[in-house]
Amino acid sequence: MSARMTTFARDQEGHATLGGTRLSTLLEQAGVPTPAYVYDLDGIARAATQLKQAFGARRHLIAYAMKANGAGSILRTLRDVGTGVCLVSGGEMKVALGAGMPPNRMTINGVAKANWEIDLAINQGLFAIQVESLEELTRIAERAKALGRPARVGLRINPGVQIDSHSHIATGHDAAKFGIPRADVAAAFERIDASEWLVSVGVSTHVGSQLPTPKAYVESATAVCEIARERLRSGGTLEYMNFGGGFGIDYGPEVAEAPAKFAQAALTLAAEHGLDALELVVEPGRSLVGPYGVLVASVRQGKEGAARRWLMIDAGMNDLLRPALYGAFHRIEPLERAPGTKEWRVVGPICESSDDFGTHALGELPERVVLRDTGAYGFAMASEYNGRALASEVFSKNGNVVHTSPSPGVDFWVERRLKA
Ligand code: LLP
Repeated sequence: MSARMTTFARDQEGHATLGGTRLSTLLEQAGVPTPAYVYDLDGIARAATQLKQAFGARRHLIAYAMKANGAGSILRTLRDVGTGVCLVSGGEMKVALGAGMPPNRMTINGVAKANWEIDLAINQGLFAIQVESLEELTRIAERAKALGRPARVGLRINPGVQIDSHSHIATGHDAAKFGIPRADVAAAFERIDASEWLVSVGVSTHVGSQLPTPKAYVESATAVCEIARERLRSGGTLEYMNFGGGFGIDYGPEVAEAPAKFAQAALTLAAEHGLDALELVVEPGRSLVGPYGVLVASVRQGKEGAARRWLMIDAGMNDLLRPALYGAFHRIEPLERAPGTKEWRVVGPICESSDDFGTHALGELPERVVLRDTGAYGFAMASEYNGRALASEVFSKNGNVVHTSPSPGVDFWVERRLKA
């Protein structure tokens, strides 16, 4: 495990730390109960800065895929570093605008955008509305006409590339619902050029998530480069190329290459294709936040079963869905001391067999545990299933808590269900 990818560590007494401060101290400062997500904003800022530096003087846009974690504190941190955002909904757009993200640093994707979302994107003057079908182009042209304002559109293409990742997070293969098939790209440009309400600004792709190396990334980006070259050769307009996100992180034994390696591969590829005049856009989500957040849970009790030794914690699949949904593995360790050898099957309180975080060597029954690398797609995918309140979130900087977003509490859920 390299230091570059995480800010989780242990101090000399064996206490778990984040960004150099004991997690137990941060939680005490925040005054919130478990389960609680804790994030290191310095780590997030550093990851974004390092990625920015990898692009050097090259004109580029890091459009943070805020679906990974849309917390205002994180967006404001990234805004200050100079990133933009990659959106998938009008709700996300409203949060990003509220956090002071400039619209000319925003892209929006989505296979089924609502009219109000298209309208908002056009009215705000987003950097690009990334279009995922020919049918959508027609809809956007109609909305632009109704608003009397041309729309800046990019084509999200489906590169037809398979990746070695969980099927739920592979998006660039022929059978995926995402993007415009290469065979339809010429027709898409024709449709844009024929409309006075559409401005052709870019070509994008996103091949999938949790890529360990830039190999598949480069493969799908090559398709973008080929399309961009053809477009420019035929005299059409284009401002940017967007190679998407998907940079993997280290969840445990596997070692993903650093985000900067993906940036370097992108730079090299664009140069090889003679496309340095186009702005280069990337859409990382997980890699900017995943390693800089943890979920802290309390142990409710152990259970010595006939076949297994269970550890029941107060965080469930409603708080962290990734293991249940993708079979993902997050390392779990005691909060106040280093892991031991005694193994436990760690499970949550939800009435589902899939509410299971796997087997972990924790030693003797701990009081609290840390679920590591949960800054991305953790809180963002949480639900209130089984009558559970959403978790608290704690944001730290320079070793101190700078913001706390407390859990709304169970009664909030109770009231709304009663009114339903
Ligand atoms: N751009 C587009 C168009 C995307 O669909 C995504 C992610 C990203 C960028 C950012 O990908 P990242 O850099 O975060 O890998 N919930 C899943 C991941 C779903 C990713 C969906 N799209 C998980 O927990 O693994």
